[in-house]
This record gives sequence, C-alpha cells and structure tokens, in this order.
Amino acid sequence: SFEVVAQRSGKAVQVAEGQTIIDALATVGIKVEISCEQGVCGTCLCDVLEGEPDHRDVYLTDDEKAANDQILVCCSRAKSKKLVLDI
Ligand code: FES
Repeated sequence: SFEVVAQRSGKAVQVAEGQTIIDALATVGIKVEISCEQGVCGTCLCDVLEGEPDHRDVYLTDDEKAANDQILVCCSRAKSKKLVLDI
C-alpha cells in the first residue's frame, strides 16, 4: 500500500492493494472526476507535487510519464511510499 495526500485539504489516505486512488480518496470525501476508469480518456488527470507515480494508463506519452508530474488516478499507483497530489 501507499499513502496519497490531497494537498489542498491536507487529507491523507492509505491506498490498499487492489484499491484505486479514486476509491481511497472517496473514503475521505475527496471526489475526482472520472469517466473511462481505464486510463484511456484523461479525465482524472491530477498534478503530482511529490512522489513517484507507477503509471498504468495508456493516455500519457512516455515523456509525460517520465516527468512524473502528472498521474491518472483511476488506474495508476505509486512506486514511492507517498504521493502528494495537487487536488
Ligand atoms: Fe479515464 Fe482516468 S477516468 S483516464
């Protein structure tokens, strides 16, 4: 598991294995707009302020993935223990 921090509210939540970031955020009342839930459409794109995403989408280009400053929270996860998102 890893921790996701929503910078604007300061709320933090653990994301369990088999749980999406979207689902984890919902448990603390943070809603991110979603559509495809498969990493295809880009609707759930969030800016990453800290931490290293584990990109599981097919939306971002390889360069964008390597920059580690954006994440699609419907399907991607974290390689670091903690991700801070600009939400
Ligand atoms: Fe479509 Fe996340 S909801 S990429």
